[in-house]
This record gives sequence, structure tokens and C-alpha cells, in this order.
Amino acid sequence: MAKEKVTGKRENFVSKFGIIAAAAGSAVGLGNIWRFPYVAGENGGGAFLIIYVIFVTLIGVPAMLSELIIGRRSKSNAVGSFRKLRPGSPWYLVGVMGVLTGFLIFAFYSTVAGWTLHYTYLAIIDAFHGLSGDQLAETFEKFHTSALLPVFWQIIFLILTAAIVIAGIEKGIERYTKILMPILFLILLILVIRAVTLPGAGKGLAFLFKPDFTKVTAKTILEAMGQAFFSLSLGMGVLITYGSYIQKRENLTDVAGEVAFFDTLVAILAGVAIFPAVFAFGLKPEVGPGLAFLTLPGIFQQMPGGYFFAIIFFLLLVVAALTSSISLLEVTVAFLTEEFHLSRKAATIWSSLVVAILGIAATLSFGVLKDFKIWGSTIFDFLDNLTANILLPLGGLFIVIFVGWVMNTRETKAEITNENAMKGRLYGVFLFLIRFVVPVAIALVFLYSIGLIKL
Ligand code: TRP
Repeated sequence: MAKEKVTGKRENFVSKFGIIAAAAGSAVGLGNIWRFPYVAGENGGGAFLIIYVIFVTLIGVPAMLSELIIGRRSKSNAVGSFRKLRPGSPWYLVGVMGVLTGFLIFAFYSTVAGWTLHYTYLAIIDAFHGLSGDQLAETFEKFHTSALLPVFWQIIFLILTAAIVIAGIEKGIERYTKILMPILFLILLILVIRAVTLPGAGKGLAFLFKPDFTKVTAKTILEAMGQAFFSLSLGMGVLITYGSYIQKRENLTDVAGEVAFFDTLVAILAGVAIFPAVFAFGLKPEVGPGLAFLTLPGIFQQMPGGYFFAIIFFLLLVVAALTSSISLLEVTVAFLTEEFHLSRKAATIWSSLVVAILGIAATLSFGVLKDFKIWGSTIFDFLDNLTANILLPLGGLFIVIFVGWVMNTRETKAEITNENAMKGRLYGVFLFLIRFVVPVAIALVFLYSIGLIKL
């Protein structure tokens, strides 16, 4: 992973694997293992999964490629890139919106990341030992509605993220994630095997894979689209920023395809691990944001070596959350260092402080602030829904319109084909998708979800 200096030359990713690791590191996170199962659970399971996969393929991949194009073409941060490509136009506001969205996401993301730290600690002291499904639910309920403990872990997480971002990322996190992410993947596979052999697993698998389209509402469709944007880290300039560190010889289409494939695989595997456990332990799939924290400790208890697997798993979940939150913070830090010439350290510290204030409010909204509502939602739910379901798709909409209609085909084709070094066979398809399909689809989902149009 590259870090840029205020003056001097911007750095690049040195290898293809480095790019994939960084982009997949951003994409694969709590969105896959915590958010995907809980949102799928609230939206009826199977039908949600199908709609989700369609959105990833038809909207996610082209939108991701669009961000990479903007980034690599401009070699600049999320705001500077629009300024560089179309000087004097208001398009840079899309980048500004992205930076602001990043703050809001990081705020509630750090709440859940704090939970994973606490669960790592609980795994180490063997606190889940012998607990029933109900008792696990009670453990989570007591913990996440209390005031001090969740805030304590959240702050620890924010400090960890800030420390890595300040240190510069390439020597630390990139080196470790290349090893750690494959291990997380392996443990997830082991969990899947245990989960599908639990008594009553079939019910969970049927819930996840057997579509019941009578359950599909406008909300299901909006949330499937939001989850696709959230999980792929799209719509706020993460991939513009990372794209700006990608060298001219790399194939951007491959990068987008591989990252999207891997991210979706991890989400589905997490679902396959969690839903059988939901039914085996007598829980309800629609319990909401606590879902992963109620089920996973239970699965570990039912397997040999579960004590150790639980510790490693929650630790790696912390790492997965870290590589994602680094990308969230990096968007702001790249913006502040390049546009306002702040030092990397100052930019990181100031941004983290702002996130901490918002984030603590999000954490407390499960407990002492639970009656404080914004348009009927708690602070946490408000931030979660506003960013994923509205701000990210809106950012994505502007980004594809920019690449499809404002940039010219000579510029965009040059990025897809690496200045004609490659054929770019899919260029026509890509152009058609970002010009017509993606904008129309996003607009329709918005209009449908606010009830302006009916199917
Ligand atoms: N995609 C990450 C996850 O699934 C979260 C994330 C990181 C993100 N950077 C983002 C979401 C940018 C939206 C935009 O956990």
C-alpha cells in the first residue's frame, strides 16, 4: 500500500497482489461477516441473496471500475481527482460528499469493531463456555447496551487504526494482511463445515438459498443495493484513492472482477456459517445487528478446539475490520494532506477525533441514548441506513455518470486498455452499463423505495 508525501512523488502499489490485497482488504470486513447476514436475515434470506448478487454484478463491478478509472487517470485523491480531470467544474463536490460519508461510516463501523475486540477478549477468558443460545443473547444484550465497555473498546480500535495510518501502511498492514486474510478465509471454511453439520442445519440453508419472492418489498431491494455498495467499499472514493496508487501496466477490469468475486464469496460463506446456527440455537434470523455475535460463539462451542478457533477468528475479524477502516480513514487523510497540505499525522489525529465523537454517540445509542431518535431511528441505525442505502448509491450514481458521460471515451478507453496495450473486449459492455443500466437502476430503486413508482 502506498503512502503519499505532501511534497515529492506519489508512491504506487508495487505488485498486482498488493493491489488486490489492499482493495480486497478494504472490501472484506465487517460488511461481509457482520452486516451481510443481519441484513439478509431481516429481509427474508434467499430472495435478498439473489437480488444482492445481481446488484454486485450489474452495478457493483462497473461502479468499481469507474472509481479505479478516475483514480488512476488523475493520480489524485477523491476530491482532487475530479478537479484534475474537469478543472473549474462542480464535480469535485462528489468527492467532498465521499469524504463526509467516510466520517459517518467510520463512526458506526468503529462501534461494531469495538464489539469484535471485546468478543476477542471474551474468547480468551473462555467466557462463552457452556452458555446456551439464550445466555449468549443475554451476554450480548448486557454488553452492547452498557455505557463504558463498548466505548472503551471502540476507542482502542480507533487508536489502532490511527496508529497504522500514521505509520504508513505499506510496511505494516499490507505485509500482514497478505498472510492474515487467507487464514481468516480458512477458518471461515472450517466454521462453515461445522455449521452445516449442526442438527437442523437444513432450515438455515433453506432460509439463505431458497428464495421466497413474496417477501420482497421496496425495502428489500433498497437494502440489497445498499449492502452491495457498502460491502464493495463503493461510492465514496476509496477505490478512487486506491486506484491512484495503481501503476499503468495493471489491468483494472481484472482487479474489479476479482475483488467483487472474493468479497461476495466471503459474504455467502459467512451466511452459510451463521444461518444454520441461528436455527439450531433457536434464534430468529431477523434479530438485527447482534446476529453474528449471538451465533458465532455458539458454533465454536460445538466444535473440537473451539476455544482456540474462537480466539483466532475474532482476532482476525478485528484485522479484517482494521483493513477496512484504514481505507475509510485513508480517503480523508489523502484528501487533507494533498489539498490542505496537512501532515499525515495531523490529518489522521484530527479526523479520528471527529470520528470518535460521532462514533461514541452511535455506540451509546444502544444504551443510554436509545430514546434519542432521528427520523424514527437510533443514531446507529440512522448512520448505518443513511450511508449504505442512500449516500453510497448516490455517490456511485454521480461517479458512473461522470465516467460515462463527462469523461470522453478516449480517456476511459485508455484506462481500460492500458493505452491500447490490451484489447479491452468488454469496453463496450462496460460503457453501456455505466451510461444506461447503472444510472437507471439506481434511480429506479430510489424512486421505488420512496414510493414514487410501483412495480
Ligand atoms: N467494505 C467494508 C466492509 O465490508 C467497509 C468499508 C470500508 C466501506 N471502506 C468503505 C464501506 C467505503 C463503504 C465505503 O466491511
